[in-house]
Amino acid sequence: MPLNIAILASGSGSNAQAIMDKIAAGLLDARIVTVLCNRPGAGVIACAEKAGIPCQVLDHTQFADRESFDRRMVAALQEAGAELVVLAGYMRLLTAPFLDAFAMRVVNVHPAVLPSFPGLHGAQDAVDYGVRISGCTVHFVEEKMDSGPVIIQAAVPVNPEECAKSLQQRIQSLEHRIYPQAIQWLAEKRITLDGRRTRLAPGAAPRSEDRGDWLVWPPLEQGF
Ligand code: GAR
Repeated sequence: MPLNIAILASGSGSNAQAIMDKIAAGLLDARIVTVLCNRPGAGVIACAEKAGIPCQVLDHTQFADRESFDRRMVAALQEAGAELVVLAGYMRLLTAPFLDAFAMRVVNVHPAVLPSFPGLHGAQDAVDYGVRISGCTVHFVEEKMDSGPVIIQAAVPVNPEECAKSLQQRIQSLEHRIYPQAIQWLAEKRITLDGRRTRLAPGAAPRSEDRGDWLVWPPLEQGF
């Protein structure tokens, strides 16, 4: 049985699209039961519509406070039958009512090697700091921003003259690989938690042969 996932997004939807593509390619054993977007007009809405995936726009500015907005989202996600909530460029903190309803069933992708550069501008902050290596992280979500146990990380070298936009693009192309891979591991129930640490049980798929100008750990499997 495919894993029922819901995607929460605020932006252009390139990660949502990458997840849809891996499902369509038969590599990711998941079904997107709904896409929830908090920004009317965001690109992710068109991505979902094109793929024929139910998409609901819930505008957070129309709610009295964070908790009442999050409760409304929980109702929509439960109604849709979501087993895992996938944050794909969702730019709001989740409150306790949400995280209690989906305890350790919410994952996020962040454009930095956490715990470095949490927040809204991971790539820009890395360039401003002058780091020589940056990357991206898929992690479980806790109430504190960008802080939950790490599932997979990828690192890229930062070129000295590089602007944040170029770094962000190179990071995103890796997000599009590591995020579907992490969700597939969750669908296969191969990720377990040991305190803050996650463990990946061995699987049948061979390692990806593709070795580029980056480091991904644990290694990607074929097709991701
Ligand atoms: C992604 O790069 C993701 O890492 C980032 O938003 C972008 C959304 O792009 N998320 C965060 O910064 C969360 N703190 P997308 O809409 O094209 O997937």
